[in-house]
Amino acid sequence: MQRVLRVPTGASGFGTGHAEDWNHQPEGRGFSEGLMKLRTHAFQRNAWYAAAMGDEVTRMPMRRIILGDPVVLFRTRAGGAAVLEDRCCHRLSPLSPGQLIDDTIECPYHGLCFDSEGVCTHVPGQVDVPEHARVRAYAVVERYGIVWIWGGQAAEADVTRMPDWRWVEDEGWTAKGGYFSIPCHYMMSVDNLMDLSHVGYVHKTTIGSALDGEEAEIDTFAEEDHVTVRRWTRNRPPPPAYAAKHGIEGLVDRWQVIEFRAPCHVRTFKGMGPNMYGAEGFEFTSAEADAPASALTVSRGNTCITPETGTSCHYFTVHCHRGHVEKERLNQIWASTVETLNQDVEILARTQENVAYNPDADLVFIHVDEGVEKARQLARMAVRKEERA
Ligand code: FES
Ligand SMILES: [Fe+2]
Repeated sequence: MQRVLRVPTGASGFGTGHAEDWNHQPEGRGFSEGLMKLRTHAFQRNAWYAAAMGDEVTRMPMRRIILGDPVVLFRTRAGGAAVLEDRCCHRLSPLSPGQLIDDTIECPYHGLCFDSEGVCTHVPGQVDVPEHARVRAYAVVERYGIVWIWGGQAAEADVTRMPDWRWVEDEGWTAKGGYFSIPCHYMMSVDNLMDLSHVGYVHKTTIGSALDGEEAEIDTFAEEDHVTVRRWTRNRPPPPAYAAKHGIEGLVDRWQVIEFRAPCHVRTFKGMGPNMYGAEGFEFTSAEADAPASALTVSRGNTCITPETGTSCHYFTVHCHRGHVEKERLNQIWASTVETLNQDVEILARTQENVAYNPDADLVFIHVDEGVEKARQLARMAVRKEERA
């Protein structure tokens, strides 16, 4: 078992931040220091957040809370997704229970209408529409089967900062995704992905075995804008439930590469097969790495965990499997994924519930937490940077 933090030569790593950006020196720390605590309502604004699966957004307006703000999502007649603040500028009623009239949404309280840019176009019984009568409109991009919004000012939206989930659009991969509502702080859900030692316990009936916790070799690679955790279990039987579902026999090397980028974007690269460890030409140090053709399973998880409130989040994920997977088989795999993720939802919900009883409780740092800590630092630094600007 290893506990390694590697900052690649030439990378500035975490050394460039202001000293107050972390609670302690990130390298050379002892296990006696606690894990960094979360700030409940500190959200990065200038970033892309998954707001809804594409098929959730229809001509029936839908309300969702994102970054602590109510938004309403609907489609225009041309099919484009529109996302507005779900709070009428007249007397603050939600717009979402209102009806769509062509491409405008009518407030259900006194009938003001707003177009997809948030501009009020009609005040019943009044000729002039006040100039400042408008609600916030979000910059929207629809991609990877998901409607994304920019959390900051729409005019500053930067499409080059969209997460790269290229496999979703690649014909060499088969993709399927979905949405989960999780009643926990979004970084607790990120923690859950950055530290897969839970797999042997939370998921022992689905994708895990005790080996995941006891025998994994863990490396953490910290870069300036992302952190990657790599886990190997070598020459071991695959988890029994997983082996049965995928028809895998014999001993395998299993890798799990997990990458976090602020504010809440996580990509995973996982798979297994005989003699994968040390396969020539395959480094497995990045979520974008390739796997040998002889791997028995290769998958990539693309996930955005959008904060809802300080104690809840929206979990959007699209899983990609290498090669062509028949629809029926894909649905079976997805059903298993849903079962697995619901196990995470349950433990996270219970944990968040416990946090509420003592939000200031100290946390014990153990060897599996290196990636968790680095992700929390990156997220916090991004928020601090905006707060100082
Ligand atoms: S609150 Fe919306 S029209 Fe009055
Ligand atoms: Fe999990």
